[in-house]
Amino acid sequence: MKTMAIIGSQWGDEGKGKITDLLGQKCDIVVRFQGGNNAGHTIIVGDKKIVLHLIPSGILHPHTVSVIGHGVVFDPLSFKSEFEEVRQSGVEINPNNLKISINCPVITSYHKLLDSGREGHADSTKIGTTGKGIGPSYEDKIGRRAIKTHDLLDKNLLKEKLTSILLEKEVLFKNLYHVEYPSLEDETERLFELGQFIAPYLTDTFSFLQDPSRRDKKVLYEGAQGVLLDIDYGTYPFVTSSNTSVASIYSGAGIQQHFVEEVLGITKAYTTRVGEGPFPTELHDDVGEKIQKVGHEFGATTGRKRRCGWLDLPLLKYSIESSKLTSLALTKLDVLTEVDELKICTSYNYKGEVIKSAHPGINLYQAEPVYENMEPFKDKFENAGDLSPQLKAFIKTIETFVEIPVGILAYGPERNQIQFLKDYF
Ligand code: GDP
Ligand code: IMO
Ligand code: MG
Repeated sequence: MKTMAIIGSQWGDEGKGKITDLLGQKCDIVVRFQGGNNAGHTIIVGDKKIVLHLIPSGILHPHTVSVIGHGVVFDPLSFKSEFEEVRQSGVEINPNNLKISINCPVITSYHKLLDSGREGHADSTKIGTTGKGIGPSYEDKIGRRAIKTHDLLDKNLLKEKLTSILLEKEVLFKNLYHVEYPSLEDETERLFELGQFIAPYLTDTFSFLQDPSRRDKKVLYEGAQGVLLDIDYGTYPFVTSSNTSVASIYSGAGIQQHFVEEVLGITKAYTTRVGEGPFPTELHDDVGEKIQKVGHEFGATTGRKRRCGWLDLPLLKYSIESSKLTSLALTKLDVLTEVDELKICTSYNYKGEVIKSAHPGINLYQAEPVYENMEPFKDKFENAGDLSPQLKAFIKTIETFVEIPVGILAYGPERNQIQFLKDYF
């Protein structure tokens, strides 16, 4: 196999970072193709915890080239502090192992102010965004007025583009959101300086990936967020502003092969969500609290408590269909061993009908989950391949329902707390 994608199959935070880090070890190139620093991908190595937001999770392996494709919205300020933090933890980063597309839309201070202004405004729908300016920056990209990463190198052009960006936003800052904002001159200086910092890493990443010399390279595409946060497939409007599904690889980075050979859907053995929006299997009881505590379910980017609930197979089936997932990695199994009951949602009662696969015609606020009670598993995961009958039954129920195999079991945050049931790369 030469190409593989890692896609979150729920509402994000499924454990993509850990799996990308592990599989990235076997790859030549790891590519981010959408999202921005709203992502928080955690990798635990011994007593070190590294949280990556913009830098691909392949960076820990010196032989792997990490690529930030043009589909990513790029905040140079956030990048600089992440870069310095990662370097301080002993990871080598240089222009040979990190390439940033010359064509990423840039997140400016104005985008971040607009994001928080909207979230705080009484008349806006509160989405519970990460506040990183993701939505406003994608708006400017689609509105054809984005500043691209290569624009940061030309001060005059940068000022010209910032002027046009500020033209409309200034009206909103002054008259609607009533917030202070940096002057055009200050913002130009700040971004130009950051441009100098990223200059050695700027690359035409599309051509880099297409180069014939890389035809035989193993490439791993690292998705951010999850399918249910996809701007088109997700629980709109409670979504992020990019396509998080596999389709984004083609528009957000480019691919040399004709298709992605394996699309691995990372799936928590239960479900979590940060921010607002429907969540049919959400728990509002002691069990939900226990899962939140035992699973340390706090957002890696904002520190917010994650909402927790049971695994939702109708929604998982929908994610699999919309992102053409070919196998699953089931993560955080260890967390469920601490809980004395185990449920799995196998259908919804929806307006008197039984729904087995979620679809965009369903108002999830009105979907009543129907559960199968499963026997809890108490595995200690000491011997590889030694799974209890209860855990086997849990996996079997999932596989039978979704009709794709579970290829990976993860049972702890560390690199070695994993079992491969299928060979990747
Ligand atoms: P991502 O956004 O999908 O990369 O996931 P996050 O890093 O935001 O959140 C996943 C959290 O679970 C992180 O703190 C990981 O260290 C941790 N984690 C990943 N896999 C497992 C697992 O199998 N068990 C446990 N207990 N923690 C895990
Ligand atoms: P990773 O890659 C979980 C959520 C936010 C909010 C919505 C919109 O770590 O899985 P945005 O700032 O993107 O405009 O917020 O999307 N969200 C995430 N939730 N994991 C993420 O990324 C997320 N990125 C965005 O909480 O509900
Ligand atoms: Mg995360």
